[in-house]
Amino acid sequence: MKKNVAVIGAQWGDEGKGKIVDLYSSQSDLIVRYQGGNNAGHTLVVNGRKTVLHLIPSGILHPGKVCLIGNGVVLDPLVFFEEVETLIQSGVLSDAPEKLIRISERTHVILPYHRKLDRLREERAKGRKGEIGTTVRGIGPAYEDKVARRGIQVIDLLHPSLLKEKLERSLEEKNVLFKGLFQTDAASLQEVYDHCLKMGELLKPYIANVRSILNQGIRDKKTVLFEGAQGMLLDVDWGTYPYVTSSSTVSGGIFSGCGVPPAAVQSIIGIAKAYCTRVGTGPFPTELEKTQPELAQEIRRIGAEFGATTGRPRRTGWLDLVLLKYSVEINGMTGIALMKTDVLDGFEELKVCTGYRLNGRTIDELPACIEDTEGVEPVYQTLKGWKKYNTRAVRSKNDLPAELQSYIRVIEDFVGVPVVLVSTGPDREETLQIRSPFDN
Ligand code: IMP
Repeated sequence: MKKNVAVIGAQWGDEGKGKIVDLYSSQSDLIVRYQGGNNAGHTLVVNGRKTVLHLIPSGILHPGKVCLIGNGVVLDPLVFFEEVETLIQSGVLSDAPEKLIRISERTHVILPYHRKLDRLREERAKGRKGEIGTTVRGIGPAYEDKVARRGIQVIDLLHPSLLKEKLERSLEEKNVLFKGLFQTDAASLQEVYDHCLKMGELLKPYIANVRSILNQGIRDKKTVLFEGAQGMLLDVDWGTYPYVTSSSTVSGGIFSGCGVPPAAVQSIIGIAKAYCTRVGTGPFPTELEKTQPELAQEIRRIGAEFGATTGRPRRTGWLDLVLLKYSVEINGMTGIALMKTDVLDGFEELKVCTGYRLNGRTIDELPACIEDTEGVEPVYQTLKGWKKYNTRAVRSKNDLPAELQSYIRVIEDFVGVPVVLVSTGPDREETLQIRSPFDN
């Protein structure tokens, strides 16, 4: 029997999960997103055409695949319909998209006041210590409402009186913030209520018991692909808190985020770039900007490291093996997909971080306290680059330059799991699959 596979970002997001989900989708029957929202940006290049998806699982690009949005996701209905429309216009979806996209009844919705609160907080924090640099999509405020037990679930949109009651409760506090702290207009209950009713009507055909669809699918021996968003180091518990997103990006988030038991997932593939990037603020031990800004810029230029969601330039740095090992352990990763190796093609020498120095001591894990994390110095191992070799043209692992093969071995030895895939370019063809995660 084929294994069910999870694809998880092993760094700070933007590792290239979209490409791998796209590749693995062809072998899956059901594809499910279980956390995050439209803060994600999965860029896919198929037959030279670029598609960016923020909310709908990337598996949708494969005809006939059923894509599910789990309860752990926060869904902005406006963004959802925009994406559906784009997919219809580009011929990916037909006129009955609700047959292929199902949204959990329990998924929480992002409403205009969540976006507004996110924006106002970011503006207020700009340039100050503690600025997160969010994607300003309302993600954090929507999750806050969820855990504060005043969130609006998709199913509530179909229950007008309950909806009104919940919105009243939610806006009572928000409006104190809007008027008092932010000195801006209060959100109108009537306007939000009307918006919700309208969205509810439109969403109705898509709403389903996603938990049940998934578990039944598993009983029927269907293959499931769990599509993670963001990256492990943005996890609300295990990331570089508080510079994180507001959801559980680790594999543990799968179970609460779509209602399947741990035994439902047999292969967990960590997606990691051959170097590191980060958008937004927060610690980044191997960042090159301060020590070698030209090199940082060079990697950004070659790797086209600009955010798919916000267009922000990404911070760049060397591969951090300490963090990758941490990621493997917390997520139970069974293999690594190593992305964008071609970006390092021209370099004479490469570095990988194998430890940190903090207050005169060598440590092998990021400290829990953010102040200490901000103060760590990376300890590097220097490796020979595969200078001037065009790895994009390579179609088998054995044909990769010896230096890249040894770079891969260093990673495998350090993190303790195999590299199961090497991506040498953005296109589907530029992918060396060493081992299929679906096989036993
Ligand atoms: P939020 O998720 O919009 O609240 O942003 C919180 C932090 O997570 C910020 O540093 C964002 O830049 C980062 N972030 C959120 N989503 C992504 C993503 O998909 N890729 C990379 N970084 C992300």
